[in-house]
Amino acid sequence: MPGLGRRYSGYIIGVRLWPLLLSAGACFAQYAGSEACRECHVSEYRSQSATGHARALARSSESQPGEWAFGAGIQAITFVSRLDADHYVELGESWYRATNSYALTPGHTENAGVTYRTFDPTTGIVRCFACHSTGYLQLTGDKSIAPSELGVHCEVCHGPSADHVANPRSARPRNPGRMNGVELNALCGSCHRAQSSAEDATDLRDPWNSRHQPLLLAVSRCFQKSDGRLTCLSCHSPHKELETNASSYNAACQKCHANVRHEQSVADRACSDCHMPAVRLNVNLAFANHRIGVYSPGDALSPLATWKKAGTHGSIAAPPASGHSPAIKK
Ligand code: HEC
Ligand code: HEC
Ligand code: HEC
Ligand code: HEC
Ligand code: HEC
Ligand code: HEC
Ligand code: HEC
Repeated sequence: MPGLGRRYSGYIIGVRLWPLLLSAGACFAQYAGSEACRECHVSEYRSQSATGHARALARSSESQPGEWAFGAGIQAITFVSRLDADHYVELGESWYRATNSYALTPGHTENAGVTYRTFDPTTGIVRCFACHSTGYLQLTGDKSIAPSELGVHCEVCHGPSADHVANPRSARPRNPGRMNGVELNALCGSCHRAQSSAEDATDLRDPWNSRHQPLLLAVSRCFQKSDGRLTCLSCHSPHKELETNASSYNAACQKCHANVRHEQSVADRACSDCHMPAVRLNVNLAFANHRIGVYSPGDALSPLATWKKAGTHGSIAAPPASGHSPAIKK
């Protein structure tokens, strides 16, 4: 199955799907929208609004094709339009930053686009909107999908917070800063994809799985041996744009690996260059392999199990006990 089926949902089993709110029911917790957070949480609002998360979904601009633009454009933007009462189409060509040009959308074999039934349970286009927006999805009278807030904002991570806006001190939103590694993998993994279940034969060496960071992080020795203390937040600030300066990631590694002795000189290279190598899917897309390990230079997908020698271990420092290392500031 091309398009969504293979590249976006195909590997994604048990994804979160916000309950589709056909008519506002009072039994659901209510969302306030990120604008409502602004006056009291100015700095979180400001910096979060500039992230890839906040820009993950927009209306296509005049110079873009289609009706909806999915993706912040850090690597790519894919366009989607409504076709008729029961169908949407994912356009056959996406825009890629690497080449600043249009080329086939991942999973498509021709540029005519792929048509999806709006509510197909496995490939429904509604799932694209669920992961790229915040709050309940609504359906308008003519069966168009109407997201409440475009992009990934505050209440995706903090939960519906209208109560908190009304009573900041008595109604507290969820604070994922208090979650351990497993819980955060589940929260972030509801979109980035969570760990597979035991019976699920996921091929971790399929390059397309490099997009699924929680899945890969969970099988790393770093994760499995650090008692829930290695989390997405050890390396990523939830309210900031993706850090591209390697030194901040080096610092994150060194919180636990203070004085590693290598057999070769590694001084002028980033830890992640070798231990989280970039997996290149094609000329346009690449992802950092979150399965932290020792790799040989030619193969970014198969961590070596045979490199271990007695006496080379650096000391593993105890990470801070607060649940995760403090977010890395720029
Ligand atoms: C009228 C001011 C106000 C608004 C609006 C507001 N907050 Fe808060 N928020 C607070 C205050 C005050 C606290 C600290 C509460 C305390 O410590 O007792 C807080 C705390 C928090 C915390 C930390 C909770 C914890 O237990 O650690 C989060 C997360 C949060 N707010 C998220 C949000 C989000 C998301 C929104 C928008 C949907 C929002 N807030 C809107 C005033 C506000
Ligand atoms: C509602 C779904 C959803 C959840 C939950 C979610 N993300 Fe994302 N995330 C996305 C989407 C969609 C993008 C793609 C944005 C783009 O197009 O570049 C993304 C991009 C990112 C990026 C790279 C781009 C950037 O600058 O923001 C990071 C890092 C990231 N997410 C980390 C996290 C972490 C950590 C968590 C959990 C605390 C999390 N995400 C939870 C949907 C989600
Ligand atoms: C299960 C949640 C989920 C679904 C369903 C989903 N996305 Fe995404 N999407 C993400 C996440 C998470 C990212 C960030 C991937 C990354 O950069 O690591 C992302 C990234 C993207 C990007 C940026 C380029 C890239 O590959 O990183 C585009 C474009 C995109 N999605 C389009 C779509 C379209 C179109 C659909 C529906 C056909 C869709 N997505 C369905 C979660 C989802
Ligand atoms: C991708 C998930 C994610 C999104 C989106 C997000 N947050 Fe957070 N937020 C977190 C996490 C994780 C923490 C705890 C770690 C930290 O403070 O960096 C946190 C902490 C907070 C806190 C408590 C800070 C403190 O000092 O304890 C506030 C307030 C807050 N967020 C508000 C917001 C607001 C407002 C938005 C939207 C503008 C927002 N968050 C968007 C994940 C998120
Ligand atoms: C929260 C602590 C923590 C952080 C942060 C961390 N690690 Fe680890 N790492 C560990 C632990 C614990 C082990 C297992 C040590 C053992 O087997 O004795 C480990 C093992 C490893 C191994 C051996 C892997 C294998 O398959 O045998 C490598 C390589 C490694 N870490 C590199 C890194 C790099 C590079 C970073 C940063 C990108 C990093 N780690 C971040 C805790 C951490
Ligand atoms: C040990 C450090 C570390 C941890 C833990 C970590 N990341 Fe990353 N992450 C990185 C590095 C390094 C990059 C590449 C940054 C760059 O492109 O310069 C990255 C990039 C990303 C990207 C951008 C797309 C890509 O794959 O290159 C997303 C999305 C992301 N991480 C999500 C997550 C999520 C979700 C978690 C938790 C499951 C997580 N990360 C845990 C180090 C980490
Ligand atoms: C040039 C590639 C390269 C760079 C850069 C690099 N490493 Fe390594 N690392 C390796 C190789 C290869 C091994 C296994 C053989 C060895 O010990 O030299 C290894 C082994 C390790 C181990 C396992 C040690 C043990 O015996 O348990 C850890 C932990 C580690 N590296 C962490 C780091 C950290 C932290 C950084 C950044 C400060 C880093 N590495 C930078 C290639 C690299």
